[in-house]
This record gives sequence, C-alpha cells and structure tokens, in this order.
Amino acid sequence: MTKNIPQEHFLKDYQSPQYEIKSVYLTFYLSPNKTQVINHMVVEAKGGKAPLLLDGDKSLTLVSIKENNQLLLKEDYELNSESLTLFPKSNQFELEIVTEVDPESNTYLEGLYRTNGNYCTQCEAEGFRRITYYMDRPDVLSSFTTKIVADKAESKVLLSNGNLIESGDLPNNQHYAVWEDPYKKPCYLFALVAGNLEVVEDTFVTQENREVALKIYVEARNLDKCEHAMQSLKKSMQWDEERFGLAYDLDVYMIVAVDDFNMGAMENKGLNVFNSKYVLAKPESATDHDFEGIESVIGHEYFHNWTGNRITCRDWFQLTLKEGLTVFRDQEFTADMLSPDVKRIEDVKRLRNNQFPEDAGPMAHPIQPQSYIEMNNFYTMTVYEKGAEVVRLYHTLLGEKGFQQGMKRYIECFDGQAVTIQDFRQAMAEANDVNLNQMHHWYIQPGTPHLKVTKTYNPITKCLALKFSQFLNGKQVHLPLLIPVLFGFMDEEGTALPIKPSISTKNKVTQTEKGMLLKVTQLNDTFEFMGLETEPYLSLLRHFSAPVSLDYKATEEELMVLASHDSDSFVRWESIQKLAMLNLKENVIRFENSEPFLILDSYLNAFKAVLEDNEIDLALKSLAMALPDVIYFSEQYEEVNMDAILASHNFLKKAIAEFFEESLLETYQALEASEKPKYRYHKEDIANRMLKNRCLNYLLQLPKHFDIGVAQYQNHHNMTDVLAALEAMNHLARVERAQCLEDFYQRWQSDNLVIDKWFALQASAQSDQALEDVKKLTKHPDFTYHTPNRLRSLLGVFGRLNFAGFHDKTGEGYQFLAEEVLKVDKLNPQVAARLASLFSQWQRLAEPRKTLMYKAIEHIASAEDLSKDVFEIVSKTLK
Ligand code: ARG
Ligand code: ZN
Repeated sequence: MTKNIPQEHFLKDYQSPQYEIKSVYLTFYLSPNKTQVINHMVVEAKGGKAPLLLDGDKSLTLVSIKENNQLLLKEDYELNSESLTLFPKSNQFELEIVTEVDPESNTYLEGLYRTNGNYCTQCEAEGFRRITYYMDRPDVLSSFTTKIVADKAESKVLLSNGNLIESGDLPNNQHYAVWEDPYKKPCYLFALVAGNLEVVEDTFVTQENREVALKIYVEARNLDKCEHAMQSLKKSMQWDEERFGLAYDLDVYMIVAVDDFNMGAMENKGLNVFNSKYVLAKPESATDHDFEGIESVIGHEYFHNWTGNRITCRDWFQLTLKEGLTVFRDQEFTADMLSPDVKRIEDVKRLRNNQFPEDAGPMAHPIQPQSYIEMNNFYTMTVYEKGAEVVRLYHTLLGEKGFQQGMKRYIECFDGQAVTIQDFRQAMAEANDVNLNQMHHWYIQPGTPHLKVTKTYNPITKCLALKFSQFLNGKQVHLPLLIPVLFGFMDEEGTALPIKPSISTKNKVTQTEKGMLLKVTQLNDTFEFMGLETEPYLSLLRHFSAPVSLDYKATEEELMVLASHDSDSFVRWESIQKLAMLNLKENVIRFENSEPFLILDSYLNAFKAVLEDNEIDLALKSLAMALPDVIYFSEQYEEVNMDAILASHNFLKKAIAEFFEESLLETYQALEASEKPKYRYHKEDIANRMLKNRCLNYLLQLPKHFDIGVAQYQNHHNMTDVLAALEAMNHLARVERAQCLEDFYQRWQSDNLVIDKWFALQASAQSDQALEDVKKLTKHPDFTYHTPNRLRSLLGVFGRLNFAGFHDKTGEGYQFLAEEVLKVDKLNPQVAARLASLFSQWQRLAEPRKTLMYKAIEHIASAEDLSKDVFEIVSKTLK
C-alpha cells in the first residue's frame, strides 16, 4: 500500500469559503512543454483575517507571486505539493500568480493537456488546480477573462469560455485572443482549447429571438461527421425551450471533439469539450446506438447550462444535484425524440446492469456520498443514474405540471448560486405546497431497496390487502423511503379491474397522469381495496416507478397474462423477462445437480406470443425477445456460480433459436428485404434494425446459418448492420469470422472510433481463445495506453463482458487485468480506477474464483505509489 494514506474528505466538515474571488484574468503563453500561466485575481476577505488557502498540485511549477504588485518572498507564504497558503495584509487585494505547466507530458488528461497536437483542458472535478493556484471548489464563483497567446502555425484556433472580445497578431508568428465570460462561474467550468481545428457552423434563433452561433470544432479529417451532432444540438435547444422554458444565454455555443478524453463530455460554459465518440458519426461508421448516444450526450451537456452552470453545486457531495437532474432531463429528451416506452426499458436495463451491482458492492454509496478520497471516483452510475431515478420520483409524485412549477421556482430562487440538494427539494415542495422531507432518505442511504409484496384476498368480503415491506441491505432498520408504485389490477383474461381503495387507504392512493399511484411511506405499509369479485392479477411498478428491486412472487399464469395484456409496456416486458429468469434459474439448479436442462412452457408460450404479435412496436418486440443480460442474471444470486450461469444462459439462447428457427428466419428475411437503401436515424428504421438483428443473433446460434451473418456483413449497408453481423458471429471461432474481422480492420484502419469497435469485438468474444487474443492485442500497433477509449474498448470490455475469458478458472484473466491496472495507473489514474472497479464483485463469486480474484486485487493493493484513485477503489474493495 502507499505509505501515506491519502486524506478523506467529509460532507460534515463543509465550511463556506472565507474569501471571494471577484474576478480572475488568466493569460496563457502556450507551449507544448512549458506553458506559462499568469493568474491575476481580485480577492476580497469575507470576514476576519484568515490565511488564504489556494489549491495546487505537484504538477505545477511556481514562478512568482505578487500581492498588490509587491513580489512575495519565500518566507511570505507556505507551499507544499497540494496547496499554497498566503497571509494577506489587507481585506481587498490583487494577486498575481505565475506558474508553469507541461501539457505535453500530462497523461492524466486532467488540467491542461495535449491531444493529437491540440491543447485542451478538463477541470471537473478538481483539475483547475493543475493549471494554477486557486480556490478550486464549486462554491467560489468568479468572472473569468482569458487571454491566450500561441504560435500561429501550431494553434490557428484559440478558444475559451464566453464571448471573444479581442484578437490579433503578435511578433514572432504569434497571435492572441481574449475571451470574456459574462456569467460568474466556478473554476471547474473553465475551458481552453487551442490548435489546428476546423469548424462546422450553424445558427439557432432562441424563443427570445436572439441568434446564437453554433460551432463544432474538429480535426479536418472529421469534418464530414458533424451533421448529426449539429442537428442534435439544435433539437436540444428547441426542446429545452419547449419543455422546460429554458433558453440559451450566450451568443455562441461551441463544441470541440477530442480523441483523448477521460469521460463522455464536459459542460464548460459556452465551450463544451467532448470525447469524439459523442460527436462524430456517419451511417457507414456509426451504429444506431452511437447516433442515439450522441443525441443524448449533446443534450446532456447542453441542458447543464441551466442545471449545473447557471445553478451549480455548493460542494462535490451535491454532485447528484446537477447530474441526477441533468440525466433525468436527457432521458426525457431522448424519450421525446424517439420512443418513450423503449427508452424507459433501456434505462431500466442500464440501471440494473450497472448501478444495482455498484449498490450491492464494496463501493456502494448514497447518491449524496458522505465522504470521498478521490472525487473523480464518485462520477458513478449511482450519482448519475440512480440520481436521475430519484429526480423522476419527484416527477411521478408531482406530475409534469407540478414538476415544472418546481423547476421554475428552483431557477427563480437559485440562479447564479451554488446550492444543495435540500434547496432543490425545497423549491419542489414550496411550488407545490407539499411536504417532501421524506425524500431526503433517498439521498443519504446506500443500497437498492428491496420491496416485498404480500397479497391477501378474502373471497367473502371481496377485499384485497397488499402489504409492502421495504428492506435495505437485507434489513428493516433504515429510515423509511417514500416509494411511489404505479399499479393496476387485472382479471384472468387481462381485462383491467376497478380500483376501489378502502377508507383507510384512500389518502395513500391517487390517480395521476401516469395511472393509479400508491405511496409506500413506511417500512411496512398495508393497502386495502374493495369490491373485487375475483382475486386479481397484480400489475406493479408500472413504468418502473421507483428504483427498487420488486419482490412479488407472481405465478407463471399471472406473468403470462401480464406479458401479453398489460396496458403498461414496461410491465409487459418485465413479465416476460421474469418468465425467462425463472427458466434460467431452474437450469442453474439443474446444472448444479447434473440434470439435463429444460425449457419452460410458460416462457416458450410467452415468447411465441410476442414473436407472433403483429401489433406491437418492433423495438419493444425485440426487447421482449432478448434474454435477461448475464450481469443482471448473476445479480440474482448471493453466491455466483459463473459456470452454471453461463451454461444456463447459452442453453436457453440456443434452445430458443432451435424452437423458433423458422419464424425467426422468416422475420429476419422480411425485415432484411424491407430495409431502405438509405440510412435514416429514425425510430421506425431503428426498430426494424433492432428486431432484424435480434433474429440474426438467435439464428447464428445455429452454425448452419452462419452464412446469413457473413452475407449481412458483406452487404455493408450501414455500421449498425455490419456490427450486428460481426457480433452474431463473434462466439464461434470460425474462419469466416476471422476473415470478416480482418476485412473490417483493413477497411477502417484509419478511423479510431471504428477500430475501438474492432478491439471491443475481440475483447468480448466468449471463446477459450479470448484471453490469449486480448493479451496479444495489447501488443498490437494500434493499441495505446494513452487513449482512454482504446483502454476501455479492450481492457474495460474484457473485464465487464467477457465472462468466459475474464473469469477463466485458472485466475489468469484476473492476473492479467491486475497487471494492466498497474500499468495504466502510472499514466492515467482515473481510467485505472475504473478498471480496478471491475474486481468489485469478488466476494460474491463461488470458489475458486473468489480467492483468485481476491489475490489479483491484493496484488494491485500491494504495489508502490498507487494513485489516490486506485488506492481508494482497491482498499474499499478489500474491506
Ligand atoms: N460533468 C460531466 C458530465 O456529466 C462529467 C465530468 C466527469 N468528471 C470526472 N472527473 N469524471 O457531463
Ligand atoms: Zn453531467
């Protein structure tokens, strides 16, 4: 372990800043290895005479400090690798701090760094302190002006936040630009970009009739791939005006796409920096999924302008205030652009596959974490996706109108401020004149709530009692959560039955725009309904109205009726998934008892009903036909028997293919024949491709249909179909697969984003060869440890999706990834920490894997000089 245990930060220790930075004028003299930063601040003490503590980093070289134009001497300040402490002589003063940084050697991709020869910055969460000494905390808001001086040939374009107020030439082939941001902001929203970039331009006219210049900056070779991003931006701007009444507030909105980026994108005021994956697309090289990702991330960053930038967080423990809310907004945006029902199911899958395991593992934390060692480790599925689910709870409780009234009040009260999640809740409550205090319990307790439902029907009184019991981490000792449950009753034919709550239940049940809603508010809460002639089937948690794991033991008959008749498409999908899960689990038991596998009639019939349903939306059909993902499947077990789970999953997939071969083939051929020659990003076309490729995937479980996959690959219609063909072929080590992969590589060698797909395909192949292949691929000339996307597509995909290879019984997969984590940690701790979290499930694995994975984590933990990032993950994982 690292010798000095890194410091942990606690929410309870929060103190408001003692100083205000009235304004800051930054001057950058850009140079690859030695960039000089002059930071001129006007500072004012808020109260007494406290020392002024400025955050810094070991990567900074301090050149000089002036207080009111007086050069400070060494004895006038205290300097260490993380901070600079000054002892100001007056209450109002000017500071000028000169530092030097080395962008070219900055492999952390945090602070100011270089990517493909261009300069760019990433400051959230705490990267600004790698640029200059500053009060690097979100509750210090200041007016920024930025002057950039650079070589003309090397950096044609010079960008920063706000409006360009001056630019011109300088001697020695240099030039400069001055940018002024009229809005006060915390330093995490600062950005600078410089380099030889080309621009795609458009305009948007706001509801207030102001014209905004829209500019997307990319490298010249990517100019033909910006159209979709630009359309997405315009749609986002329009949608935020229509649905939230929020318009853009500057004259220019800039997006820059870079290849080397630690995350998806960053909402810097007026100057978003994006991972090129979320900007660049054309039909030949990007899939429907990529197009959708671009639309939603462009939306997400744009929506941050109000929820994040105009109103920001008081401290990083409030991160979900901006992220949960902005994810909720981007989910709603995608739902409105495409299909709300499909989007809801996809979001639930994402939550269950990624957030539920996090909440059940060693890194579990509330959506408002109470402490952190490295803040970057808390940009998690929990803070983002569960946070969005919690915002959705307000929406479900208050309705669209009430929610929007709350938003309006939130913005009126807090515009221009750095606030807390309590402030948000207060605005929602006040605007609707309701008490929402209980909602706080969602913010401060980790774990996925378990909601157990028991039903008692009395045929004499015709009365139904539903008892809801909430558990957190297996117990009932927590602060009770407010859980909204959308629901309905149904008879055996699938006809909806009336809902007549008893007197005592009446005030806990309401009719909402999303349907009937009951509110569970206690650890054990009972609801009574009258006038039910027969015992009803229960449709619960419609629309997935709360992020809980629902424990209601429906019968197979009940599930079959719900699967084909429920009015709610989420419950229909969920019911067929539950039938599949029953089947999968049954076969796990059989595997453990060395008995032959079987396929349950209930699942078979439900599958048949969906497959033959001609009314249903094709995307919903495709989702219903999919088996539960392996990750979610294994989440059902306290002890995970990986061999049994994989065998059961593979068996059922193949059994479906055999059973429905003819019908799958027919559906496939009809859809393939109806495919339009020209690609459209349109929900109908997307749904067609989804279903077609679902059929293809099943068909290729049967080796005799391999040719169909090869033919679809060779057609080269669009990347969606090409990739789907490669994925369908991926589990069989046939020579055709190798040939297609080779052809794919040759065709796309010069396109990084496509080559990432090529790496990911091989990293996810479920074959005995996979581990060897992946090891070899780390030596491939196109593999680099410097590009996060490449690391994620090879190492991340291997650890997350290669169940056979990563979980290889010898433990070699674990050892391999542990070594890679250590290599990556030297260059990029943020990415290394993400890779390290792939070991988080070790305690639940059955032996021998449990011990083998433990050893791999110990190996990481015992290394010298671990970063804070990896240290935090592995030390918590071993606990
Ligand atoms: N605020 C950015 C977004 O959600 C992401 C920043 C992630 N930062 C980090 N250190 N991981 O749009
Ligand atoms: Zn965000």
